[in-house]
Amino acid sequence: MQVDRSLEFDPNRRSFLSALAASAAFAGPLSGLAASTASAQATAASALKDDAAFWGEVRGLFAQKPGVRYMNIGTAGSMPVETLDALDAENRRMARESMSGYSNFLEQRKTLARSFGCDPDEIVMSGNTSDGMCHSLLGLVWMPGDEIVTTNHEHGGGNVPMAILQDRYGVVIKRVTLPVGNKQTAEDYVELFSKAIGPRTKAMVFSAPTYKTGTMLPIKMLAKLAQEKGIVSICDGAHVPGMFAANFHDLGVDFLAGAGHKWQCGPLGTGILYVRNKVLPQYNPRPLPAYYLVVTSSYPLTGGLPPRTTNEKETDDIAARIQSTGSRNAPVYMGLVKSCETWDRIGREKIQAYTIGMSQHLKEKIAEKWGVDALYSPKDDPRLVCALTAFNPFQNPEHVKEKARSDAFVKRMLDEYGFVIRNVNFPVPGSQQDHYGVRVSTHLWSNMDDVNQLVDAMWDLSGKMNSV
Ligand SMILES: Cc1ncc(COP(=O)(O)O)c(C=O)c1O
Repeated sequence: MQVDRSLEFDPNRRSFLSALAASAAFAGPLSGLAASTASAQATAASALKDDAAFWGEVRGLFAQKPGVRYMNIGTAGSMPVETLDALDAENRRMARESMSGYSNFLEQRKTLARSFGCDPDEIVMSGNTSDGMCHSLLGLVWMPGDEIVTTNHEHGGGNVPMAILQDRYGVVIKRVTLPVGNKQTAEDYVELFSKAIGPRTKAMVFSAPTYKTGTMLPIKMLAKLAQEKGIVSICDGAHVPGMFAANFHDLGVDFLAGAGHKWQCGPLGTGILYVRNKVLPQYNPRPLPAYYLVVTSSYPLTGGLPPRTTNEKETDDIAARIQSTGSRNAPVYMGLVKSCETWDRIGREKIQAYTIGMSQHLKEKIAEKWGVDALYSPKDDPRLVCALTAFNPFQNPEHVKEKARSDAFVKRMLDEYGFVIRNVNFPVPGSQQDHYGVRVSTHLWSNMDDVNQLVDAMWDLSGKMNSV
């Protein structure tokens, strides 16, 4: 297959203009601005239709197996050919020149800092999201009885370091029960956290979006709440890099751990961790929390970490210390930088509009065929949507409580229709048993035809499985 590697973007093209319009409509999730849902959807739908040629070129950047439509990016992405080439070239260069993995590629953080709206001393090329969550949580200072407010929909990547804190220091983990479906607004989630935070609460930990239902918890609003309550905010943003046009400073959080290998489509074993390293009067004026690192080969050997800054100028490159962990697999980080450059070239706002636009279309179709109550993901509050869509595909709604049936649905979607999706289980308020919903990820190599065909296939299969 001939892959077009010279993607050129002409601002005069109609496609560019309509994509921009759509991205403006979908600025909601991270900007905290509410957009009119109906107009957002109409604009996004027209952008997706008019932009077929443009997105066709983008699709040509990837080299996936023909005949399989991959829609499980929430688990892992797929590298563009130019990233594969960069990875290969770097591996060969290192072998040829007998290089070690001790270069900590601190320079390359400049690209990531530009891509994600922060400074190089605040961005770490980590191993993955779980690694970033461990760095965030375990590097802080904890006392017995300190409390973390979190949710019942967290991933093991965050749950594991929280469990360590509980066992090691006696930290109390308090979980809010997340509602699911389309009835919530962003304010509802803020209120849940606000009510749960008490005098012993030291931090809040939340996924945005949650991996189970694809609910984009409102990062900016929750970070603001954390600031008002004087606590640390830690966001498991595994799905943020590569899906959202995120500006980490603007989000106002203290830590955000993202994946490099999911929506950003970098190599496996890469993550993007943001660690606030200065006072940001406009976005987060709170003092920096004490932070002593966890895995590093860059701690002063006789002790005495430089004190954290109390103003807008950093006193120490904390991200460099976190990133410096002995000999590392340097080529994967070069691959990550390459993927970030590709995303910057396509335009992160356009990517956000495109991926979420397809997901919104999918949600509308699900609501039409199965009824809106089948959705576990929000659809109508633009601050809560993302490119993950989770729903109950069974025409008998009770069937979603059967793990084996849900597993069979996912397997048959691949075997009989060629779509890779996944299922995920979670508690649903009012239900004694977990639900095993299916989750679909819509990314750059998919288009509206794929989404329409996916809906037809899922409807067909759910009909077949209804009577069995
Ligand atoms: C919300 C969330 N957090 C953390 C992880 C773990 O990601 P990683 O494999 O990058 O550590 C995932 C993976 O699916 C996730 O969805």
